[in-house]
Amino acid sequence: KSVIFSGIQPTGAFHLGNYFGAVRNWRDFQNRIERDNIDSKLLFFVADLHSLTVSQDFNTLYRKRIEAYASLLACGLDPHKATIFFQSEIPEIPKLQWILSCICGMGQLNRMTQWKSKANLRKDANIAEELGKVKLGLFTYPVLMAADILTFNATHVPVGKDQSQHLELTRDLVDVFNRQTKSDFLHSPMTLLAPTMKVLSLKNPEKKMSKSDSDEMSKVFITEDAKSIRRKFNKALTDSIEGKITYDPVKRPAVSNLIAILAAAEGKPIKTVAKEVQDFTKKELKDAVSEAVIKELKEPAERYNQLMKDPVGLDKWSRLGSEKARSLASKNLKVISHLTGMGWW
Ligand code: TYM
Repeated sequence: KSVIFSGIQPTGAFHLGNYFGAVRNWRDFQNRIERDNIDSKLLFFVADLHSLTVSQDFNTLYRKRIEAYASLLACGLDPHKATIFFQSEIPEIPKLQWILSCICGMGQLNRMTQWKSKANLRKDANIAEELGKVKLGLFTYPVLMAADILTFNATHVPVGKDQSQHLELTRDLVDVFNRQTKSDFLHSPMTLLAPTMKVLSLKNPEKKMSKSDSDEMSKVFITEDAKSIRRKFNKALTDSIEGKITYDPVKRPAVSNLIAILAAAEGKPIKTVAKEVQDFTKKELKDAVSEAVIKELKEPAERYNQLMKDPVGLDKWSRLGSEKARSLASKNLKVISHLTGMGWW
């Protein structure tokens, strides 16, 4: 039986990058599994423990977690079909993280790229001093991510490309664990790369669309109304190349980003859409993207607003999700702790 598993950090209501890059694909898995009657478990979670690896305002974090949970449901994940939970409610995860920390080498973590970019190391400063400031949690972030995956013994993990290196580490840790415990209990999880590319900032195609971007015009949230979506796409950066609209992510990243968003919203291959819009003006392309995105986000936006008005209902779903997740987690951790000579937790 396959276990499909993925998570997202609580940065508040989702933007188009979260939606097309991750959550819409999760919903598609959920719907395909139901339609084809596939025997598979689905688990999706808000990675709130991971969000502590960068500095947070704890007063707003609580709300952001709830907004992220509501966004998961608003985007079509159904708590009857999938287990949807908060990472921090599963104490088995940090337990497994400790076990994995004891088999993971510092060198393996040192090779990971994400902590280096998130730590904002100053190039001109004393390197030992700079490294001394890196928080342990940020450095060991991938071990926590491996613990998430292996607590549920996931077989498939749908993620964006930026997460593949962490999945490789997870598979390395599985090999070491299984070898050291002379077992084959842990599955080697497969990376399922999302079919939709990185969604880029509407104002700077060198950056991905990101919640932390201070330019409001660079990002579109799933909760935005039609007027605001039209305004943002109308003001989106394009380029000064004249003539036909072409898809060329290297030479025309901003225009290509708009084509890719249009393709994602219409559920068509990029190639097909690029052909359809080749004779459009840039204004017509922007209009087409706005209308397609408005249509795609209509339901999620409505559902999100309803869900946020019902905190008791949200709390009920998240409790149910945590209970289901804990029951699976504790079964797996019993075996894992027994295999590591710890007895039955
Ligand atoms: P996070 O929260 O950064 O992102 C969640 C997912 O969204 C994808 N993504 C994007 N895709 C396209 N365009 C964008 N602009 C964009 N921004 C984000 C990411 O690739 C990701 O798949 N470490 C993970 C969370 C996590 C996790 C896990 C995932 C924690 N434990 C275990 C899978 C399994 C993270 O920070 O994702």
